[in-house]
Amino acid sequence: MLLLQDKLNRPLHDLRISVIDRCNFRCPYCMPEEKYSKHYTFLKEKEWLSFDEIIHLVQLFAKVGVRKIRLTGGEPLLRPNLDDLISDLVKIPGIEDIALTTNGALLSAYAQALKEAGLKRLAVSLDSLNPEIFKFLSGQKGNVNTVLDGIKAAEKAGFESIKINVVVQKGINDQSIIDLVKYFRGTPHILRFIEYMDVGNCNSWKLESVVPSKDILRMINEQFPLIAVKANYYGEVAKRYRFLDGKGEIGFISSVTQSFCGDCTRARISTDGKIYTCLFGREGQDLKTPLREGVGDQTLFEIIKRVWQKREDRYSELRSQIHSTDSTPAKVEMFQIGG
Ligand code: GTP
Ligand code: 5AD
Ligand code: SF4
Ligand code: SF4
Repeated sequence: MLLLQDKLNRPLHDLRISVIDRCNFRCPYCMPEEKYSKHYTFLKEKEWLSFDEIIHLVQLFAKVGVRKIRLTGGEPLLRPNLDDLISDLVKIPGIEDIALTTNGALLSAYAQALKEAGLKRLAVSLDSLNPEIFKFLSGQKGNVNTVLDGIKAAEKAGFESIKINVVVQKGINDQSIIDLVKYFRGTPHILRFIEYMDVGNCNSWKLESVVPSKDILRMINEQFPLIAVKANYYGEVAKRYRFLDGKGEIGFISSVTQSFCGDCTRARISTDGKIYTCLFGREGQDLKTPLREGVGDQTLFEIIKRVWQKREDRYSELRSQIHSTDSTPAKVEMFQIGG
């Protein structure tokens, strides 16, 4: 097997695939309604990688070391027949793990089918339990109880330990942290507090809006003492902690204050089939056109190899030194390549 390493000696291990660029939410930090109203043109269906194309690519990526797949969006559950894709992905030799990140709004409807298709793990985004704050953070589109019901449906379908992703913004949902901890403590689910990042081009990100993980850790630890635990695997994004009283686990994803580019093994594929080597990438390499032109696998391998071997991204480490100008190409949006 050909194993790839980038310029900083990082292997390619995870592939995150965005299956649709649309979303039923309009989170202000990702797809603000002002910009993504009915006038915005999302990709047309024929521009999406088809399931066959995704399968073909994953087979190739598995041969160069990818073991882990995460399906993302936009909102991946809006992609019709997603369970069919999953049931084919799980059969690909070498693929050991398939996870999905969702906003949870449609989970009640799809959890059972996802489980039956062979999906291994789920991450649900949930920024607050407060109905008004949740609604605001979904761009007035979501209802917190629907998401909580979705999580219950996923438990019932057999997803034992679900990751609950909370993006924390100062002054917006930092008051929701303890409520979330109280709600999920004592369950097998794992809350992860994510530092708010400057992904994409439209969230007017400011460093002052970030609540550093160490502050959240301190706050939770005062009420519910925590102890650090070892990473599950090399390059795990979240730093893990357990409640001392045995009531479960939480995690912190601190890409602003403690960046983790050094062991970043992730590549991302946009809905329209471009490969990006960083969440903060600006230009992706098109894989869909050569696929559709019917070039052979060897040519596709060469493209993938070239992209990974020239990779030197470490945006989060360099964040404070990067000064873009009007002529710098825009960053890719989160909903085009997933989180
Ligand atoms: P596990 O496979 O369960 O360990 O999940 P994960 O933590 O790799 O994946 P998940 O998609 O749940 O990641 C949660 C969040 O972490 C994402 O939504 C992003 O906000 C952030 N994140 C994940 N990967 C990266 C990355 O490569 N760079 C940066 N800066 N942030 C990332
Ligand atoms: N900073 C951190 N995380 C973000 N997400 C979306 N935008 C941001 C951001 N600016 C998270 C979502 C979800 C996942 C897809 O990415 O909350 O958990
Ligand atoms: Fe949709 Fe997720 Fe973006 Fe919110 S963060 S608008 S749920 S893709
Ligand atoms: Fe990887 Fe880019 Fe995130 Fe760094 S900023 S961890 S290189 S995706």
